[in-house]
Amino acid sequence: MLVSPSLLSADFCNLSKDIDMINESEADYLHLDIMDGVFVPNISFGFPVIKNLKNICNKPLDVHLMIVEPQKFIKEVKDCGAEFMNVHYEACLHLHRVVQQIKEAGMKVGVTLNPATPVSVLEDIITELDLVLIMSVNPGFGGQKFIQNSVKKVRQLRKMIDNSGSHALIEVDGGVNGETGKLLKEAGADMVVAGNYVFKADSPLDRISELKNL
Ligand code: DX5
Ligand code: ZN
Repeated sequence: MLVSPSLLSADFCNLSKDIDMINESEADYLHLDIMDGVFVPNISFGFPVIKNLKNICNKPLDVHLMIVEPQKFIKEVKDCGAEFMNVHYEACLHLHRVVQQIKEAGMKVGVTLNPATPVSVLEDIITELDLVLIMSVNPGFGGQKFIQNSVKKVRQLRKMIDNSGSHALIEVDGGVNGETGKLLKEAGADMVVAGNYVFKADSPLDRISELKNL
């Protein structure tokens, strides 16, 4: 399983300590949650913070934009050194255009689905995507309870991807722990985000390793 710990649950007074831990860990990516207080009812951190973190982080960045009109910030995300730029399906009126623009900017593109959005909305664009991010909580906050229906969505998406020949990875975000991670693995997920399960643990390194070996 690919693992992308979410910085949202890190200690914001000691970010460099937490980045050191991530650098040492078996994590594959660092997940960064950008919020605008409009698309979601919360505000997190923005591009200046991420740009600085990139200088000390040796893992590729998995950037999750919970903002309206994400196409306005493609250059900023690219300048942060992001590997994946994830935009919400619900935030893009012209999703096909946004997907092309992200690819033209030289990043891998992910499309994120809220819990109430069915995976079927991606049928006509799935072969264009590098990743689909299934939200297993309503976006905006760390530490929420996993929505069980997400397992079914992963199963449906696995089928869609395999039948279409798409190379898209399936990532799941929200309420992931050892138990829910196992269910997601069985359903066909490739990658999990984990905030609280990693950063609020006595041994974050062990938690990352546990998810890695699911
Ligand atoms: C929620 C964010 C998540 C969050 C996950 O809106 O997208 O990435 O940090 O946190 P946990 O793993 O604690 O649910
Ligand atoms: Zn996220």
